[in-house]
Amino acid sequence: AKVKMTAAVTLQEQLAADIYDMRIKAPEIAESAVPGQFVCLYSKDGARILPRPISLCGIDKEKGELRLVYRIAGEGTKEFSGLAAGDTIDVLGPLGNGFPLQAGKRAFLIGGGIGVPPMLELAKALHGLNRSGEDSLVQSVLGYRDSQMFLKDEFEAYGPVYAATEDGSFGTSGNVLDAIREQGLTADVIYACGPTPMLRALKAYAAEKGLECWLSLEEKMACGVGACLACVCRSKEVDGHSQVHNKRICKDGPVFRSDEIEL
Ligand code: FES
Repeated sequence: AKVKMTAAVTLQEQLAADIYDMRIKAPEIAESAVPGQFVCLYSKDGARILPRPISLCGIDKEKGELRLVYRIAGEGTKEFSGLAAGDTIDVLGPLGNGFPLQAGKRAFLIGGGIGVPPMLELAKALHGLNRSGEDSLVQSVLGYRDSQMFLKDEFEAYGPVYAATEDGSFGTSGNVLDAIREQGLTADVIYACGPTPMLRALKAYAAEKGLECWLSLEEKMACGVGACLACVCRSKEVDGHSQVHNKRICKDGPVFRSDEIEL
């Protein structure tokens, strides 16, 4: 169940230009959180600024800590990046549905830009489920703008990692699908998070190859708590009266099967 609490910041580090890594002590949230879920962080000036949804990059149930890797995208996230160990922040979570964990399937874990962080906890969880020398089942394919490839090395603990950079400075020059094609990679299931054009391309790729595909649409969220309606998307679900249902990503997602939604 979701909990609202005041959490202590235990670490704040800059990983790349505008990308920060913050750890907070939130045992009540860490306890029940799963990969693909997010939390909402409240700014001190909560009346003026809506909470900011931030996906979970790491869940440490033993230490009761959450790891949040986020990009500065406005006043709220700018304020969070100024917090240091010992400061506190109000947090609500865990929120959202998370990725379905399936053992024994060859998986692509695909992250683009600020969509990379949630895939790290998923890689860890799938690796844990597969164990017994099946490391190659978790194939991470990460897309970055340039050689500031935050978190990339950490994925290597869970299986092979392939990178694509838009400027061609490392790995495949281009996007994550270019990397998959260049390396001749195959999988049974896709898990992905990143910008909408990337998700749209993966949805088409999954349909073409007949792959199961789960997409986190977290990029489209603004408040994360159902208050702004910025996150409504069209679903393919039709009721008995042929009405197409809209879905709110922050309430019904952020993870959807790619054939459930329009992008
Ligand atoms: Fe604001 Fe969903 S993100 S209503």
